[in-house]
Amino acid sequence: MRPAVATISSHSALQIMKGAKTEGLETVLLCLKGREGLYERFGLADKVITISAVEDLMKKEVQRRLIGENAVLVPHGTLISGGGLEEFEREFEPRVFGNRFIFRWEYDRVLKDRLLLEAGVNVPKRIASPGEIKGPVIVKLPGAEGGRGYFIADSPQDYAKKMKAVRGRGLLRDGEEEDVFIQEYIIGVSLYPHYFFSPLTGKVELLGCDRRYETSVDGIGRISAKDQLEIGLTPTFRVIGNSPLVLRESLLMDIFRDGEGFVEASKRLVKPGAIGPYCLEMICDESGKLYTFEFSGRIVAGTNLFVNGSPYSDLIYDEPMSMGRRIAREIRKAAESGEMDRITT
Ligand SMILES: Nc1ncnc2c1ncn2[C@@H]1O[C@H](COP(=O)(O)OP(=O)(O)O)[C@@H](O)[C@H]1O
Ligand SMILES: [Mg+2]
Repeated sequence: MRPAVATISSHSALQIMKGAKTEGLETVLLCLKGREGLYERFGLADKVITISAVEDLMKKEVQRRLIGENAVLVPHGTLISGGGLEEFEREFEPRVFGNRFIFRWEYDRVLKDRLLLEAGVNVPKRIASPGEIKGPVIVKLPGAEGGRGYFIADSPQDYAKKMKAVRGRGLLRDGEEEDVFIQEYIIGVSLYPHYFFSPLTGKVELLGCDRRYETSVDGIGRISAKDQLEIGLTPTFRVIGNSPLVLRESLLMDIFRDGEGFVEASKRLVKPGAIGPYCLEMICDESGKLYTFEFSGRIVAGTNLFVNGSPYSDLIYDEPMSMGRRIAREIRKAAESGEMDRITT
C-alpha cells in the first residue's frame, strides 16, 4: 500500500497536498472544524478527518484512522506553535515525515541557540542581562509569536522604560522576566533560505528563498525620520506576508555552508538529524556577513510563494518543484525502495 500524505488544515497544507497529488500520492486532510468549505474549494484532499483543535492529533481515534490510511504526517508551523511537543514525540503513533524530535529545539529558544551554535553559523550575540546592553539589541518576549511586543533598546535605561510599557500592555506576566531573550540587533537585509536535506541522496538542496514582510518594522521606512521621532515609533515584528528573494550569487557559498552545518549539528544533537525541509532565518549585514537568529525544522510558509517552483528549484529540476512536491517525492521514493524508516520518525 502506497503511503498517503496527511497534514493539518493551515499554514502550507494546500501546497503539501498539491505536491502529494502531483507525485501520485493520496492525501488526508486533518481539517479544523469550520474550515471544510475552504479546503473543498481546492479539491486537493482525498480524505478528510475533522478535528476541533490541533491537540486532537493525540486522540487514539484520529491516530488509528491515520494508520489505517497508511498516512505519513507532514508537520508544519501550526503543529509546532501548539506546544505539547513532548507528548507528541512520545505518544503520536503514525509516521511523521522528518525528525519529530527537532520541533522542541525549534520551540525552545535556549535549545534553538544551542543547535545554531553547534552548526557553526554566526549567531547574533546573546546579552545575559539588561545591565549589559551597550548597543542596539532586540528584546524577545517568552511565548510571543510573530514578534508581538518585541522591541529594540540601546541601553539599560531604554530597556527598563520599554519593558514597563510592555508590562502595561499585559504582554509579560510576573515571573516571566527571566525568560526574556535579549540579543544583539543586526542591521541588514533579512533572508530565509528554504533548504531540503534528503537522507536518500545525502544532499542539501536550496529550493527557494523569501523574506518576510513584517509590520511595522518594514513599513517604517515610508515615514520620514523626523515624523518617526515625533510620533515616537517603536518597530514591531508581526509577519504579514512573504515576498520572493533571489540572492547575489556570491552569497550562495555561505548559504550552503550554513545549511550543511545545520544538518551536521542536528545529527550530533538531535538524532537522527534534520530530514527534509528546514529554514534558517538570517540577516545579511553591510559587509555581506550572514547572521542566523532562528531556524525552523520543517516546511516554512514562505515556500507557499513557490507552488510552481522557484528560480532555485528550477536549476535542479526540469519540472516545477515546490517544497510540498519535494517532500512527496522523498516519501514516494523511500516507499518504493523500502526506506521509510530513513525519512520518518
Ligand atoms: N538579532 C536580530 N537582529 C535583527 N532583527 C532580528 C533579530 N532577531 C530577530 N529579528 C527580527 O525580529 C523578527 C522576529 O524574531 P524571531 O527571533 O524570528 O522570533 P519569532 O519568530 O519567534 O517571533 C524576525 O523575523 C526579524 O525580523
Ligand atoms: Mg522567527
